Amino acid sequence: MSDAVSDIALGLEKLKARFGQLLEESSDELSLRNARAEFMGKKGELTALLRGMGNVPAQSRREVGEQVNRAREDLEAAFQARLDALLSAAKRADLEAPPFDLSLPARPIRRGHRHPVMLVRDEVLSIFRSLGFEIAWGPEVEFETNNFKKLAFPEDHPATDMQDTFWVNVKGAPPDVRMLMRTHTSPVQVREMSTHKPPLALVSGGAVYRRDDDVTHSPMFHQVEGFYVARDVSFAELKGVLTQFIHRLYGEGVPVRFRPSYFPFVEPGAEADVGCVFCSPEDGTRASCRVCKSTGWLEVLGCGMIHPEVLRHCRLDPEIYSGFAFGLGIERIAMLRYGIPDIRVLFENDPRFLSQF
Ligand code: PHE
Repeated sequence: MSDAVSDIALGLEKLKARFGQLLEESSDELSLRNARAEFMGKKGELTALLRGMGNVPAQSRREVGEQVNRAREDLEAAFQARLDALLSAAKRADLEAPPFDLSLPARPIRRGHRHPVMLVRDEVLSIFRSLGFEIAWGPEVEFETNNFKKLAFPEDHPATDMQDTFWVNVKGAPPDVRMLMRTHTSPVQVREMSTHKPPLALVSGGAVYRRDDDVTHSPMFHQVEGFYVARDVSFAELKGVLTQFIHRLYGEGVPVRFRPSYFPFVEPGAEADVGCVFCSPEDGTRASCRVCKSTGWLEVLGCGMIHPEVLRHCRLDPEIYSGFAFGLGIERIAMLRYGIPDIRVLFENDPRFLSQF
């Protein structure tokens, strides 16, 4: 046997012995795999040993080649056997470990519920649905024109002031296209009347934004808006529908009154009041009622006949069509309904408050 042949044979034996030892010493899968790479990888010891193949005489190459292959199979088998042993030991340890205590009671899941503002919104919307109105929707980021101009606000109306309105910068918008956080839900009227032919009876509910912040005003609050446009709609219909609404919301017998008021997009405009539900003149509580400030009336909503100019802005002919519109603040109704003195608790998300509903 040539030297080169016996060198390789000897080298393979030693290598197997050292590999076996290293496998024994490896006690987890990672070190086992590292050991395998160290011996059998591209830069491993086996490869290094095979560099001696060049010196093996041609007639011995086949034999040496077979030896090397057998050695490689042995190494691989030793690795696999050790890996299997480690894995099954780990599995056994897992099975023999004390079991999870499945009888331990789980932490209770606290069931949530709708926010009081949403409860009132849905109640208001469902009353109007039962009166024949359909639900409409409008975006909270609105065009200035929909929020003000098409609703017949004059150019310099104080509501359009920086102090009252959150203006939004829209990247790339032409300078004459200004956007804002809608200050009321009335732009839904404009959107719907510009895209649909009367008769239309729609209600919409959602968030609106104003630069206001005190115990009864929040910079974000919610309104419900509604309107009815058709031929020959009269103020009598406005009174009939809104009185019916207030009776369903506050109770059949409550007194309702309409009092003249001003909004640029209605003519005539009015506010509807409901008799104070917190006090009464009979038992002497009225004199000290702080909710109605002893007036006996609570303001519920703004309303009026849609201004002819608004109809024209929506490409509806005021000689043919007329309509009424109304808007109300949801938080205010929720505060009256649940006796909440400060609007801000509605938006602080304190579970001690919210869990009461
Ligand atoms: N948009 C008015 C407001 O926010 C309410 C309103 C709506 C008044 C429709 C009249 C008609 O105060």
